[in-house]
Parts: sequence; structure tokens; C-alpha cells
Amino acid sequence: MTLVQSIETLIDEMSLEEKAGQLTCLPAARSRATAAAANPDQVELNETEQADAVRKGLVGSLFNGSNAGWHRRMQQIAVGESRLGIPLLFGADVIHGFETIFPVPLGEAASFDPALAERTARAAAIEASAAGLAWNFAPMVDVARDARWGRGVEGAGEDVLVGERFAAARVRGFQGRGDLSEATAMAATPKHFVGYGACIAGLDYNSVDLSERTLRETYFPPFEAGFAAGAAATMAAFNDVAGVPAHANPWLLRTVLRDEMGFDGLVVSDFTGDLELIFHGVAVDGADAARVALLGGVDMSMASGLYMAHLPALVRSGAVPESVVDAAVSRVLQLKHKLGLFDDPHRRTDKPATVDHTAHRALAREAARKSVVMLHNDGILPLAGGQRIALIGPFGEGPGNLHGPWVLFADAAKAIDLASGLRAALGNASLDVVRGCDPEGPIEGGIAAAVAAANDADVIILAVGESEAMSGEAQSRVDIGLPAAQQALADAIAATSKPIVTLLTTGRALVLGEAVARSNAILVNWFLGSEAGHALADILTGAHGPSGRLPISFPVATGQSPFYYDRKRSGRPPETLIDGEQFKTRYREMLNRAAYPFGHGLTYGEIIYLTLDLSHDELASGGTLEICATLENRGTREASELVQLYIHDRVASITPPLCQLKDWRHVTLAPGASCQVSFTLSPDQLCFVGRDCRWTTEPGLFDLWVGPSSEAGLTTSFTLLPG
Ligand code: NOJ
Repeated sequence: MTLVQSIETLIDEMSLEEKAGQLTCLPAARSRATAAAANPDQVELNETEQADAVRKGLVGSLFNGSNAGWHRRMQQIAVGESRLGIPLLFGADVIHGFETIFPVPLGEAASFDPALAERTARAAAIEASAAGLAWNFAPMVDVARDARWGRGVEGAGEDVLVGERFAAARVRGFQGRGDLSEATAMAATPKHFVGYGACIAGLDYNSVDLSERTLRETYFPPFEAGFAAGAAATMAAFNDVAGVPAHANPWLLRTVLRDEMGFDGLVVSDFTGDLELIFHGVAVDGADAARVALLGGVDMSMASGLYMAHLPALVRSGAVPESVVDAAVSRVLQLKHKLGLFDDPHRRTDKPATVDHTAHRALAREAARKSVVMLHNDGILPLAGGQRIALIGPFGEGPGNLHGPWVLFADAAKAIDLASGLRAALGNASLDVVRGCDPEGPIEGGIAAAVAAANDADVIILAVGESEAMSGEAQSRVDIGLPAAQQALADAIAATSKPIVTLLTTGRALVLGEAVARSNAILVNWFLGSEAGHALADILTGAHGPSGRLPISFPVATGQSPFYYDRKRSGRPPETLIDGEQFKTRYREMLNRAAYPFGHGLTYGEIIYLTLDLSHDELASGGTLEICATLENRGTREASELVQLYIHDRVASITPPLCQLKDWRHVTLAPGASCQVSFTLSPDQLCFVGRDCRWTTEPGLFDLWVGPSSEAGLTTSFTLLPG
């Protein structure tokens, strides 16, 4: 019997209640307190009731219950005590680590190193699967262009190509390159389908109103890359898209996802996303919401219990065809089969992989180092030895704010803070640590103590930014500057006129007030995870040089949001502005420029781009263009440079963006060394979504540049010939 036949046979044996059960995913009753506090509309079952529901076959999947023992017990009930013995699917949000925490995904994207992301995702899956988890609600692949939105921290930033490469890498990492049935494999779930990052005004859960062209050009590709890498599931987004909620959108979930993208995996709702159709105003009650969501293309309901409560009656009344239910059940059972759960339901808990925590900590330190972005350095870094250092700010010491906003299972006390990292690196050197203020409020006498410490020091490390609580889900901000208490601290420290190295803990782009902007050096350290302090000390002392680049633009003011590098030029571009002229694309107070552009990041070397050559000045359809740049390190320290290739279409039938990243290369140059960096460009990299909403290329002149950011480098041009 083939797999499909045996699944069909099993489905034939199932009651409607058991079918609805396979389409129901509930938060583990043991994690209910936290989940319920955040999401009050989830179905309420205590541990005994939940076990009983599993025994009756009314639940097919449980999530966010981290513990191997509990998973084993629940699985024993499912396979040993339920009528059909169908194994449970255990899911969880293992976003950037399980026990060992790696940098937040946005930070890791700053490495521009998808292979690194694959390795950290693999390590996360090895740890999580050993606790019995087989399904990961990650990676988040939403393109995020509005820094007010808090969830940008979970993804790869604002760029499509970076999004695609990191989506594919993370899927490969979570699932492993072998078979999904391997004990360390977790099914990956690129989420949230789709457009979630484009919520109006950066307000989480808010409406999204994107053109079909923008959806296709910007928001679909990272999902397609994740699916091409083999992702086994996806999750619907909370938002509506042009008036139709993603959970009730057969155009998105059936026409685009299934028919066009060819995705045949599982579609799960987001947490109570089906129930929320009532609040969106497209369903009258729970039964109606379940009907609309299932018909819309949501196979499995998460947390609301609506499918469990209503699908049997909806089928009996004829409101939902049983064939639609069966198709969804088949996808759930196929996934369980692929994960090896039918062959050995206890595979992940009974024979867990040996977890090499030491290797994972080393990987966490490497990943953290590679995620740090140096925005500015007047030469103060790396720190000279023998200096008296004052470490000032709410993020210098203590176990909080190292992991980031999306860590459910790891022990925060095991993460290394900056003070510990510096002490380990500097031995007995003088380090005075003063908190100064809390992330969002003053401490009595805090600023006075900080100023006193600053006055006694040779150099100040100012650790400011956002707490973990300030980014992530439901943490949209109207002002992406430092909270007032931290700004007051930064102002007071700046007034001491001592040299300052500012470290920015953050899950989003921040607007930097003058005190911070004038620091002698500025590093973005995001939330670096378990090895944060060691990794930062590695960079500050110069044991390793900074190599990260911004995967998001840092605007000058919050009011520019959404601000991203590949925006359109407009018919009144600011470059054509004549002194005093008002009627151009600009703000009353400022031009629409980045404070620090996408792709920016400095090294301890001094990289000069010397030459840029093309193999031809014309590119034939079916041909390729060889691009070669020469770089030299004129500094006195080794440098890891990220060489970036951008293009700009001069004239097209659709307004072209200012520029678009097309490729990148990492090179490491010793002091005085030079090298050549080559790229190959082909016409398919010049595609855009045309007026008919299909991908196309148009012949004509293109600008091309190779450089250290989206706003710098050597430039040339070439012509794409007609096909
Ligand atoms: C809601 C979030 O939007 C989603 O990303 C997450 O996977 C679920 N909650 C489950 O925790």
C-alpha cells in the first residue's frame, strides 16, 4: 500500500470528531498560564482535560510544552490509549535557540552569512528535538521595513534577497539536510503568510494594504525560498490583506500558495487567528469563523479550539464539504508520517541525539561576534589596554536582556552579560559598572553615580537601547528613540566629555539622539544570546574585528517610517532640489535620508575600493556579465569586508527602486593586502514584476555598483540587450 493509500484508509476509519481533532493544535496545558495571559481567547483545558481530549482523539497537536518527560507521557496516551493510536505532533516556537540561545534572527542576518544561520538553526533543532519537539514555528520570513513594528526582530530585515537566503538557510537548518524522519529534524514553518510586516503605521496586527505587485516582488519571495528549501509547513498571518484576512483568503492560501507556489505542506493558523475572523468582521461567530478559515485554506486551527468545536457539525449540516476536511487531515497525517512519528512516535524523546552544549556555546559566541555591527569608530576601538573603564547603562550587567523577546525555554541566568565578558577578557583591569537607569525609567541617584564613575574613567562603555520587552509581538512603538530615562543618562554622560563607546541593545532600528550620535564609537549589538558578553568583549578588545552589516536602514527620525533602501525615487526626487525649493520629496525638517544605510558596517581595517571592471558593457539574454572589483586594506588591522553588488534599472515600465542588492561576498584582508572580488550577473537577476503582475525583464541601461553599503561604492553601467 502506498503512503497516500494508507493515509486514505486511516481517514476512512476516522469519525468527524477525530478528523477535527487532527486539525486541532492546542497550547500545552502546562504552558497555559503564560499563553493565556498573552492570548486570553485560547481554549481553556487543564492538564487532565487536555490528556482526556488526546485520549478521545480530539487533539492532534500540542505546542510550547518544552519537556521530554511530558511529551513522552502525552504521546503514550495518544498512541496507547486513543482509539486509532495516531501520534501527536509536538510544536514550539524555537526561534533562535532552545537551551543555547543564538543572536536574534535580525541580529544574525547582520552577519550576511546564511551558512551561519543554517548551523545555528541546526543546533537549535538538535537541542529542541531531544526534548521531543518535531515541529518548529520558525523561521519568520516576513520582510520588515517599518522599524515601529516590533516583530522585525524575528526576521532577516528589510531586503528581499537577504530574506530569501536566510529563509532557505534556516529551513535547511531546522529540518536538516537528510530525511525529516531523522531524530534531530524539525518541520520548519516559514511564517506569517503573508504581508504581516507591512502592517499600516507599523502597528502589530493592523491591516495590510499592499498591491499585488508588491506582494509578489517583495513579500512572497522569502516564502518561496523557504518552500524551495523543503519547508513542511507555513502559518497564516494575523492581518488582512487589502480587506481580506489571511485566515480567510483562498486567493492567498489556495491560488497563490498551492496552485502557483506548488506548496503541498501544512497550513496552520496563527494563535486564535481563525477566531479573530469575528473581530476582523468577516465571520459572525465561532462556527462561521471555523468554516471561513477552513474553506479559506487553513488546515489546522491553533489555540482557539474552533475546529474541534464546530467542524463536525459544519460537515453534517453541509456547510463544509467533508472532502475539504479530509484533504486537510491528509496533510497533517502526511507530515506526521514524514517526521517518522507513525514508525516510532517516541523517537525524539527515547533516543535523543547527544547534544554537544560546549560546541553550541562556541557557535553562539561565533554567531554573536559576526552579528555585531560597528556604525562608527573614530579610532577609539579596539580598546587600548590598561584603561580604566566605566561600563554604564541598563544593559551592562545582569541576566536580563541578553536573549531577546522570543525565548521560551532557555535559562536566562546562563547567558553571559557584558560585564562578565569584559572581566573575563581583561583580567584585573579596572572595570566600574554602574546601571544609571532602568530601560524605561530612572533610578534614584542613578545618573549622579554614573557621572561620578564616568569622571573616574578613561573610557566609557555606554550600554543603552531597548529591553527585550520593548520589541517582539505587540511591541510597536510610536517613537523609536531611546526611552527618556536612557536619553537623560546618555546626555549626562556625554556632558562629561569623556570618550564614549556606545553599545546599542535593540530589536529594531533606533533613532539616535545627539548624545549617542556623537559617541566616539557606536556598535549595534541587538540581543546576542547566551554568549553575548564574551562576543562583545572579543570585539571591544580587538581579539576579533567587527564584520556585521545593517540588514535594516537606520532612519534619522521615526516619522520617516517605513524607511528602506530600495524605495522608489518619486517624480520629484530630492537630488533635484535647488536651495530653498520646497516642492520635492522631502520633509519640512529634513531630507529622507538614512542615518546609517542598509548594508553599512565598519571594520577595524581601512578598506578602499580601487577598481570596478565589467567583462562586457552589454548583457545578452541568456548571457552573463562578469564583474570584478579590486579592494585594498590600507589599515593596520585585518578586516572582514562584505562586498555588496547593487543594480539600478534606469528606465522600465514600472518605476524602478533606487537600487537593489543582487549579491554579496565576504573577504578577509590582512593589513596592506589587496584582492579581487568577482560576481556573475545574469538577466534573471534583473527581473521585476511588470504591469501584468508577472515577472519580466526589460532591455535597457542599468547602473551597477560594488561597495561597502547601499549608499557607497564604485559605479558603472551596462545595457541589457533585447531577448
Ligand atoms: C503568535 C505568533 O504570531 C506566532 O508567530 C507564534 O508562532 C504563535 N503565537 C505561537 O506561539
